Amino acid sequence: MGDMNQIRNIVILTGAGISAESGIDTFRSGGGLWEQHRVEDVATPEAFARDPNLVHRFYDARRAAIQEKEPNAAHFALGRLEAEWPGKLLLVTQNVDDLHERGGASRVLHMHGEHLKAWCTSCDVRSLWRGPLLDRPACPVCQARSLRPDVVWFGEMPYRMGEIYAALREADLFVSIGTSGAVYPAAGFVQNARELGARTLELNLERSQGSHHFHESRLGPASEVVPQWVAEMLG
Ligand code: OAD
Repeated sequence: MGDMNQIRNIVILTGAGISAESGIDTFRSGGGLWEQHRVEDVATPEAFARDPNLVHRFYDARRAAIQEKEPNAAHFALGRLEAEWPGKLLLVTQNVDDLHERGGASRVLHMHGEHLKAWCTSCDVRSLWRGPLLDRPACPVCQARSLRPDVVWFGEMPYRMGEIYAALREADLFVSIGTSGAVYPAAGFVQNARELGARTLELNLERSQGSHHFHESRLGPASEVVPQWVAEMLG
């Protein structure tokens, strides 16, 4: 990064690739989740209306699985960057796991929701949740048996877009880590940031679909390229 001294405000976007080395399946690569399950069977509001048990079983399994996994060197490096970076830093993740938080990041914006929360469609409150939802437990707030995974499904609006676009407007550097660039609006952030003057960097195992939009791409496993980049940023 030639003009690193000019950088104060950073926006980082992460995707499934940053958690791959922790043993959490990505969505689109060989054997990824969307090759094992059809999106329209498990990840849409229509699927939930049609067959809630199937959807609950799918998310119950994922919610249980992430609790067995540990953050890797990439999550820890970003936790360190958040703690030590003197300017503004917003960590936006498409991931619904909690490995960023367990890797030391305290302010993580989960634009696609979180596995470890349940959303009550009766009282609209989101509660921390670690167990299954298949058996229709009562909402801890209103007692209704109307909990759903607090995960954004296809056809639903991602969370906190206003905050994300505000941060992109102020960003001097936009960094995308471990995402294929297949799902909008996140896939468009690089173009938004770049049009508004930010430098843009991609850290990924292979070139993503939007790779040509970035000023620079560094290819390799997140557990290697992310700690290297963080060490550079912190001098
Ligand atoms: P994808 O599975 O689409 O892409 C994962 C990316 O990570 C690919 O480009 C891989 O090459 C890369 N990758 C794999 N292993 C890696 C490693 N060890 N180090 C670095 N990169 C690695 O996952 P996302 O882009 O996150 O949405 O998918 C975006 C959204 O699509 C998800 O949030 C999810 C999904 O449908 C919802 O469920 C709403």
